Amino acid sequence: MNYRHAFHAANFADLVKHAGLLRLLAELTKGGSPPLTVIDTHAGRGLYDLAGAESRKSGEADAGVVQLMRAKDAPSDFGSLVRTVAALNAGGEVRRYPGSPWLIAESLRPGDRYVACELRQDEHEALRVAMRGRANVRTLNADGYAAAVSECPARGRVLALIDPPFEQPGDYGRIVETLAALRRKNRTAQALVWLPIKDLETLDSFLRDLEDEVAAPMLVAEARVKPLSDPMKMNGCALVLVDGPDLAAPLAAICGWVAQALGSGGAAKVYRLSPQ
Ligand SMILES: C[S@@+](CC[C@H](N)C(=O)[O-])C[C@H]1O[C@@H](n2cnc3c(N)ncnc32)[C@H](O)[C@@H]1O
Repeated sequence: MNYRHAFHAANFADLVKHAGLLRLLAELTKGGSPPLTVIDTHAGRGLYDLAGAESRKSGEADAGVVQLMRAKDAPSDFGSLVRTVAALNAGGEVRRYPGSPWLIAESLRPGDRYVACELRQDEHEALRVAMRGRANVRTLNADGYAAAVSECPARGRVLALIDPPFEQPGDYGRIVETLAALRRKNRTAQALVWLPIKDLETLDSFLRDLEDEVAAPMLVAEARVKPLSDPMKMNGCALVLVDGPDLAAPLAAICGWVAQALGSGGAAKVYRLSPQ
């Protein structure tokens, strides 16, 4: 396991994932809706230091969150992320960036639950510290695919966030297996999956497998920041929302701004997959 998210934190793909996640959590925790359990299969360290060596070396945050915080034309769907980043940095230069655990923990109500899984011991230790003092949060130093299924309650509202590093080709298959197992255990389980876009064949074949194995309505949102001419590069990213509320308009706004403002020659696309 060589992947370190610190190199990539706050890049264009994190902005898509985190703005989409916050928009989704706002819907799922609305008003007096029943308690929600969120399971984050690949949580990372929770908070990222953009002044650290990894982030400075990659420059990805400069091309991502730094541009978002300066932008005058970002759609209101980024509002919650912008406010969280500003609060973490006392309104000054962006140095601290929230990972999914921070955003989820901040969004949940006292009666909701959050289980954050991280396999790397050093990342898990940082996660544990970042989540300290939050009564409804549990962190597990464990394989998130297996833990998602074992931790999923058989009844009640559940959201799984699946955000692997895709270091291993097996991640695509494990996502499909995990979603199928989650839905067998809790037939109303919802999920948000993040995927890189390198070439279209990989994404299409994943979506076909998902349609074959998971009988649920799905919404796909793609943000391509470059033409897909070099399959060795991350040319964009996609979110797949499984059995979620209708977020087509906000996800189109989020992906559209990222493709336009942070990309060159890219495009955004949002479409539905229907259960077989
Ligand atoms: C893309 S990062 C997660 C970023 C995080 N979700 C966020 O948005 O802030 C993927 C993380 O998954 C961890 N990881 C890799 N394989 C894992 C597994 N099987 N189970 C749990 N965590 C894993 C990596 O160490 C890495 O920290």
